Amino acid sequence: MERNIKTIGVLTSGGDAPGMNAAIRAVTRTARYHNMNVVGIMRGYQGLIEREFVKFTSSSVSNTIQRGGTILKTARCMEFMTAEGRKKAYENMVEVGIDALVVIGGNGSLTGAQLFAREYDIPIIGLPGTIDNDLYGTDSTIGYDSALNTIVECVDKIRDTANSHDRIFFIEVMGRDAGFLAQNSAIASGAEAAIIPEGKTDVDQLAEFIERGKRKSKNSAIVLVSESQKDGKGGANYYAERVKKEYPQLSSHVTILGHLQRGGTPSAYDRILASRLGYAAIEALLEGQRNVMIGIKNDEIVYVPISRAVKMNKPINQELISVLNVLSM
Ligand code: F6P
Repeated sequence: MERNIKTIGVLTSGGDAPGMNAAIRAVTRTARYHNMNVVGIMRGYQGLIEREFVKFTSSSVSNTIQRGGTILKTARCMEFMTAEGRKKAYENMVEVGIDALVVIGGNGSLTGAQLFAREYDIPIIGLPGTIDNDLYGTDSTIGYDSALNTIVECVDKIRDTANSHDRIFFIEVMGRDAGFLAQNSAIASGAEAAIIPEGKTDVDQLAEFIERGKRKSKNSAIVLVSESQKDGKGGANYYAERVKKEYPQLSSHVTILGHLQRGGTPSAYDRILASRLGYAAIEALLEGQRNVMIGIKNDEIVYVPISRAVKMNKPINQELISVLNVLSM
C-alpha cells in the first residue's frame, strides 16, 4: 500500500446516470469491508467546496442498487473550474481528513478530477458514469446501457405510429458530441438510419438516407439523430426543416427524447458494471493506484490514466455503421 488511506470521499458529478447508486454502494461497501471510513459528498464538487459531507455506513446504501439518479445528488460546478474553488475543496478535505477521492462522472467531471490531482497530492480514482459512453479506454460507461434500453423502448412505440401514417420520424437522442447512443439504438430498434457526428464529413448524411429510402421504396422511416451540433447544423429539428424544404413530398416529424433518457431504473448490465467498477476503485486505491479511471475492456477491469480517458477521442467501431446500413434494407 502506497500510503495509509483511512477515509475516502465519494461523489457523483455532472449529468446523472442510471447505475450511479450501484457504484456508490459498491465503493461504500468495499471500503467498509477494508475498514475505511466513507464520506458521502453531496452535489459533486459543489459539496466539496461547501462542506456538504455525510458519514456513510454500509446501511446508508441499502436498497439503492435498483434506484435511478444519484442519492448523493449531482451538479455541474463552475467554481471547481477555478483555482480558488479547488483550493477551498482541498482545504475542506484536509480538515475533515479525507485521504482519497472516488469521483463518479463523465468527461467534464473527470477533467476536474485531473486538474485537482495535478495541483494537490490526493489519490483520485475516477469511475466512468455517463449515459454518453464517450470516455476513452472503457467499452462501456455506467448508465449507457440503461439509456440505450430506454431509447429503444421509446422508438418501438414511435415506430407503430410512423408505420400507420407513412411518416419519417427524426428522433433526437443525447450523447453530447458522441454518437454511441444514436448508432446503437438505431441498430437495436431496427431503425432506417442514424445521423451521428462521427459520420463521414464529406457525405450529406440526410441526402444519403433519403436516396437509400427511395431505392428501397420504404414509406415510413425512423432516423436516430445525435443531439450534437456543429456550426448550427445538427439535431432532429435541423434535419426535419431540411426535409420540409428539400423533399416537400415527404411527411416528417420530430421527437426529442430529452432527459427521460437519463432516468429510470438501471439495467442489470449497468448494475453489474457499476458494482465491479466500484469494487475495483477501492482495490486500486489499496494497490497504490492514483489518478486512474477504472474501465472495462473485453470484460476485464482496466486502469486508464484519467488524462487519457478524457483527452483521447473514443472511436465508433466502423462495423456498427456497416451493420446498420446493411440491416436497414
Ligand atoms: O453528459 C450527459 C448529458 O445527458 C448529455 O448527453 C447531454 O448533452 C447533457 O448531459 C445535458 O445536460 P443537462 O442535463 O445539464 O442539460
